Amino acid sequence: MANLKSHFLITTLLPLLLLHFTTFSFAQTLFVFGDGLYDAGNKQYLSQNRVNASFPPYGVTLGQATGRWSDGSIVPDYLANFMGIPHISPILQTTADFSHGANFATADATVLGSPPETMTLSQQVRQFSENKNKWINQTVSEAIYLFNIGSDDYLKYATNNPSPSDDMKQAFVDQVITTIEAEIKVVYGAGGRKFAFQNLAPLGCLPAVKQASGNLQECVSLPSEMAALHNKNLLQLLVELSRELSGFQYSYYDFFSSVQNRVFKSSTYTFKSGTAACCGTGSLNGTDCSVSNVCTITEEYIFFDGKHLTQAANLQVGHAMWGADPEVIGPNNLKELMVRPMDMTVILADIQEAMAAMRPRQSKIESLYDIKKMESEMQNHWLYQVTEAHSFMI
Ligand SMILES: *[C@@H]1O[C@H](CO)[C@@H](O)[C@H](O)[C@H]1NC(C)=O
Ligand SMILES: *[C@@H]1O[C@H](CO)[C@@H](O)[C@H](O)[C@H]1NC(C)=O
Ligand SMILES: *[C@@H]1O[C@H](CO)[C@@H](O)[C@H](O)[C@H]1NC(C)=O
Repeated sequence: MANLKSHFLITTLLPLLLLHFTTFSFAQTLFVFGDGLYDAGNKQYLSQNRVNASFPPYGVTLGQATGRWSDGSIVPDYLANFMGIPHISPILQTTADFSHGANFATADATVLGSPPETMTLSQQVRQFSENKNKWINQTVSEAIYLFNIGSDDYLKYATNNPSPSDDMKQAFVDQVITTIEAEIKVVYGAGGRKFAFQNLAPLGCLPAVKQASGNLQECVSLPSEMAALHNKNLLQLLVELSRELSGFQYSYYDFFSSVQNRVFKSSTYTFKSGTAACCGTGSLNGTDCSVSNVCTITEEYIFFDGKHLTQAANLQVGHAMWGADPEVIGPNNLKELMVRPMDMTVILADIQEAMAAMRPRQSKIESLYDIKKMESEMQNHWLYQVTEAHSFMI
């Protein structure tokens, strides 16, 4: 029986696997939505005034200021590297090459409200819809849609509502989540299937926030609490959507814990300071980053300015999102999300059909029970093989 099975696997399954791999295509496209952590230069096109990220010391590690809010590369840059595609250009840089996607993220972006000189999440998604004809449908459906947004909503909320009741907090989070849900559904409606979310950091640990509170030792509780509540509700939303929307796939990255771990156990993660920023003035270098107050060794810091990460921290985040295990990013990391077949059930149906065609030659399998059992074993085996083959191919 064992021999028969392996013979059957080799003669039937292998050609099928090969067939599927030859018709199999990977996401070569990345669409980015968010705020200053993901902004690759959009803010420059919307602001009447000087945008600090267009000038040194921003970009100092790369030797060039590009509108990125860091001393160097940002997380979407690393993810594009890992995907094997060029860095994704800001959508407002109209002459850029958008063949591998577009970046809609803009510093100061929020989910709610209408702050000036930025694009809210809804405006970013509208930009995506308006530009959709730049990409063919297959590209749109295989692409990864990367999001990190909401920090500025909660920072503003915490400033304006210093001691909200639990009901008030939940009501505000509900508003934010409802809007995010609506925008995900717009992207899904346009054909998007693969969604990746970086959740919100413990916002009370940002140097700018700590410094403003005057309590330099501890993280400020309300902004972190709002972020944690948001994160819990965001994960619930993604789980619900994966049940509600056919073919919806997602990655949920626990950025909150990543930042918390690095703030409290900086040296474990190669950093010297998890409290102060590399660049700025004040007790924690929390504001007004300029060439006259930038540290010399940026990679010793998690935070470059009062609200944004150094390139060194962005690299760690990029690695975690790309390849970490489900404790950090789940149910798929981005490497897995990228190669997941668009519609698993269709492929399994193909295999069952092919197996049915083979059945008359399986003279030794007598009972229906055996066939069923073998089918299910083969499906498991196939899934296992696919996983293995994917890791091999990456
Ligand atoms: C692309 O998708 C849209 C729906 O989003 C559909 O209306 C259109 O017919 C599709 N085009 C092709 C060429 O399949
Ligand atoms: C922007 O840079 C200028 C000059 O370096 C500085 O005075 C200003 O405070 C900076 N703005 C912010 C928000 O950091
Ligand atoms: C603040 O930045 C300066 C560089 O201007 C750096 O030397 C100093 O160590 C930083 N402060 C802290 C508390 O790290």
